[in-house]
Amino acid sequence: MTDEILSKSAKAIALEDKYGAHNYHPLPVVLKKGKGVYVWDVDGKTYFDFLSAYSAVNQGHSHPRIIKALVDQAEELTLTSRAFYNDVLGEYEKYITSYFGFDKVLPMNTGVEAVETALKLCRKWAYEKKGIPVNQAKIIMVESNFHGRTLGVISGSTDPDSRTGFGPYLPGLEIIPYNDLAALKKALEDKNVAGFLVEPIQGEAGVVVPDENYLAACKDLCQEHHVLFIADEVQTGLARTGRLLAVCGNCKCSGFCENKYEARPDILILGKALSGGVYPVSAVLANDEIMLCIKPGEHGSTYGGNPLASRVAIEALKVLKEERLDDNARFLGKYLRQELRKIDSKLIKLVRGKGLLNAIVINDTPESSTAWNICLKLRDNGLLAKPTHGNIIRLAPPLVITKQQLDECIEIIRKSFAEFEA
Ligand SMILES: Cc1ncc(COP(=O)(O)O)c(C=O)c1O
Repeated sequence: MTDEILSKSAKAIALEDKYGAHNYHPLPVVLKKGKGVYVWDVDGKTYFDFLSAYSAVNQGHSHPRIIKALVDQAEELTLTSRAFYNDVLGEYEKYITSYFGFDKVLPMNTGVEAVETALKLCRKWAYEKKGIPVNQAKIIMVESNFHGRTLGVISGSTDPDSRTGFGPYLPGLEIIPYNDLAALKKALEDKNVAGFLVEPIQGEAGVVVPDENYLAACKDLCQEHHVLFIADEVQTGLARTGRLLAVCGNCKCSGFCENKYEARPDILILGKALSGGVYPVSAVLANDEIMLCIKPGEHGSTYGGNPLASRVAIEALKVLKEERLDDNARFLGKYLRQELRKIDSKLIKLVRGKGLLNAIVINDTPESSTAWNICLKLRDNGLLAKPTHGNIIRLAPPLVITKQQLDECIEIIRKSFAEFEA
């Protein structure tokens, strides 16, 4: 690297450091361009992207069809607010509701806004339909969850970094252990419970996959107690785990989806890859009995459901289906885990995941810098990944990755562990 190129990275990092809030700790690499599974830094060096913007870029960077939809629509109409109708939103609403088999959608922008929307919707349903006394509704959440950063959802977080210093917290949330049916059963005895909010696989917690029957049993328990089963599929959804949604379980519909979920959510929350990484688009899906509890003026967002977002989301969803990205994630995910488990390294404690949402658990404490340092080594060798919770490295490439590219990546990972231990 020449001094001039080096200074480009250093300059970009210094600017962020000086003028931006210090609410992130990025890996030191400054990216300038992305295409498919690749990203390039300001030096022109190529990397495989193994984070995919936390699973927002499932369709690959700058997917040509999604970019075309974005550009075409941007030239026509971008934003009207919901004070008026626009000619794309209805088409999008029809498309996404039939895609996932729900009566209605409520469009929002970021993942956390969609989660907040689901919580509000659940409370409204509790008072209007379930008959829970006013202000008594409870929503059950689980330990180590991650649903975003607003005051509402951090009130139900058990992560000290997310919570500490931000109180007082929202009441009406009860936390139980994840993957623990007995705990759920007990919590549901309370007649004021309105909903159970869960990530089908805990992404930020380190790709924690629950027992095979957990989600279906949660759904059954919720149904028995007239409690809404709310699935946060912001990270796990949209083909990432080898199925259209993680709540599809082990369905092998292969393109003829009949929306027969293994654990059908009463409220489904989507975000991230709903735009393929080009624009913030999120959505909450539910049937009329729930969704129509919210009336005009009670909830909304200036940008939610704008024509640009709507057009982009239609195209992003079409790409997922037409390119069979769920199949690719399923087959290559299995292959990736199988090959990673062959790596002979004392540093690898465990490889786990589903589809192309995977993690290597490093044989060190969560406070150690080992995973961070391995990520620096991976970066030097041309692959970008980021530790989650100190000792876990998440591996989640865009779902358009080919077997040949994945083989190259496995070689980089093998080499990086070997060099790190040398
Ligand atoms: C499961 C889950 N829910 C919600 C969110 C929040 O999404 P956003 O960052 O778009 O607000 C995330 C983000 O990582 C997530 O993983």
